[in-house]
Amino acid sequence: MAKINILDSSIFNLISAGEVVENPSSVVKELLENSIDSGASEISIAIEDGGIKSISVVDNGCGIECEEIEKTVLPHATSKISSAKDLLTIGTLGFRGEALASIAMVSEFCIKSKFIENDKAYAMEVVGGKSSDIVATNLLQGTSITVKNLFFNTPVRYKFLKSASGELALITNLVKNFIFSNPDISFKYSVDSKIILQTNGDGLENGIYSVFEPSIANNLIPIEYDNHNYKITGYIGKPASNAIVNNRNKQIFVINGRVISDNELSCVVQNAYGEYLMKRTFPIFILDILLPFDMVDVNVHPNKKEVRFANKKAVNGVIYNAVKQSLNKNYVSMQNELKESLFTIKPSNESDNLDEKQFVNNENAANQNQNNKINTDIKQEEFKINNQIVENWGKNDIDTLPITNIKFSNGITNFADSNLNDKIFVEKSIEKQINKVIYKIIGQLFDTYILIECNDRLLIVDQHATHERIIFDKLIKESEGNIDMQQLLFPYSVNLENDELAGIEKQLDNINKLGFQMEILGNKLTLNAIPYMLIDMDISEFVRDVVAEIKEINLISSLPQVRIKLAKMSCKKAIKGGDKLNSDQLDYVVNYFFNNNNIALQCPHGRPTVIFVSRTEIEKMFRRIV
Ligand SMILES: Nc1ncnc2c1ncn2[C@@H]1O[C@H](COP(=O)(O)OP(=O)(O)OP(=O)(O)O)[C@@H](O)[C@H]1O
Ligand SMILES: [Mg+2]
Repeated sequence: MAKINILDSSIFNLISAGEVVENPSSVVKELLENSIDSGASEISIAIEDGGIKSISVVDNGCGIECEEIEKTVLPHATSKISSAKDLLTIGTLGFRGEALASIAMVSEFCIKSKFIENDKAYAMEVVGGKSSDIVATNLLQGTSITVKNLFFNTPVRYKFLKSASGELALITNLVKNFIFSNPDISFKYSVDSKIILQTNGDGLENGIYSVFEPSIANNLIPIEYDNHNYKITGYIGKPASNAIVNNRNKQIFVINGRVISDNELSCVVQNAYGEYLMKRTFPIFILDILLPFDMVDVNVHPNKKEVRFANKKAVNGVIYNAVKQSLNKNYVSMQNELKESLFTIKPSNESDNLDEKQFVNNENAANQNQNNKINTDIKQEEFKINNQIVENWGKNDIDTLPITNIKFSNGITNFADSNLNDKIFVEKSIEKQINKVIYKIIGQLFDTYILIECNDRLLIVDQHATHERIIFDKLIKESEGNIDMQQLLFPYSVNLENDELAGIEKQLDNINKLGFQMEILGNKLTLNAIPYMLIDMDISEFVRDVVAEIKEINLISSLPQVRIKLAKMSCKKAIKGGDKLNSDQLDYVVNYFFNNNNIALQCPHGRPTVIFVSRTEIEKMFRRIV
């Protein structure tokens, strides 16, 4: 590390200095930042009595030269900047040269350090700001700092400390944040001589598994985004999983290696989730954002917990896109996984399952019989399969439906009698592969869920969420381009800023496609008509939302009101939880999963439509396997 400079007052007055030592956790923060700046790859933290009695941070970084050690506790002493110009491109976590000075004023402070190029290590003690002589000590590498009896000489500040457990909670949370923002550093964190957290410095995924319990860690999806200026990596909570919670405590933004809080950015992420989230629920996430140092000002908050961006709109847009992209990707892969598990049958020895070979024989047989069978344009989902069979479906109990329904890629549906109690639906995919599904509707549970056995899995279908999704998708499709409009008696006008108008102008077509009639004249935005179904909407609120979205992320993610309305309509029309279903209704809902290329895993309000339990999981519950 370079020499420590005592900053000139002309520079330190430019610095947003503040009281850095509020509590034990702020001491831990400063010590950890220094260790990271020193290039350490291993850092251990030991806390006693919530940090009030003792905090110790030991690193294997570059260390400090003997002559420099005494300077570390002088005010405005830093090796990280030397001129005002350096403030524009800060690449280290510290730069004010005030942390150790402030800490050493209010504690019993001890620093030991071995400079990387020296053989010997040296130590200094500072009690309430009074330094001892520098003495030789034994330390193999790096720097070790111990802070004891914090605020022993400032009783008023001591009085404001929380209980030891309250202070400890803050420190633990902070250490977790450091683990996430420095996944390549190995951390060891012990509390009252007991190791609480330990990481191997082997990347973010490992860090996540050391901090979160598996039920959360297993439900985080990776995010990766790169567009020249901005690079985003990290993990975000999988929709409808344990990684979606009812508070924002586990939402972490790391900007250029620094954990910051930013409510606006949290809202951007929330918006990007959109319909993937249920009301009043929040995703857990760790978003690591790298951007050029000169595009972010870290010198705005006394504790450096907030930053200012040169181009906030761009940052918002990039985060929005990154999150949306990763959610969509995850969704498609979950859908594919679902399809694969539904439409691919593992070879099985059970005699009542058809294996691939038998099936091909069946197909041939069915093909040969084709001329003798009644073949029409039959679509399974419409139940117009075959008059006789439709009648049978009505009469039969679902448990004993004696139907084998074989559907071929040429669109012809054929029926062959079978002794199977299961329904068999066979489909050739575009790749000319033969896929087949054998499923058995076990029945309705609590008049709310439908239980289905399929491919060594138990599917638990939420009848309401699924039916709601079916109706919603239909409504969305029907409404595309032909939404009934209602002319407003008094058109709604509002004056907007030029950049707001420019943003909206680009989206005007999209807005008007959804049944609005919006126009821009001069600096005025006018709404002449709205979709008929939104007749009772709050127009000024709608315009405000649109303008806010344009401002925030430069695009209109979805026109929320239209979709919310459609979702409400679908919700009202759908079968409810608690409704007893007859076999046709059961079939109708279940059919959605077996005769659909685009199965939705969530209803329009973000609740899951279907949950799987594998045979293995069930067998584990019964200890058949361990
Ligand atoms: N663990 C460490 N390893 C090596 N050098 C250190 C360590 N801790 C402190 N130093 C040296 O002591 C100096 C003073 O540290 P201090 O934390 O007071 O200021 P800073 O990190 O430069 O700025 P800030 O006040 O913003 O944290 C640092 O600039 C650095 O040179
Ligand atoms: Mg520092």
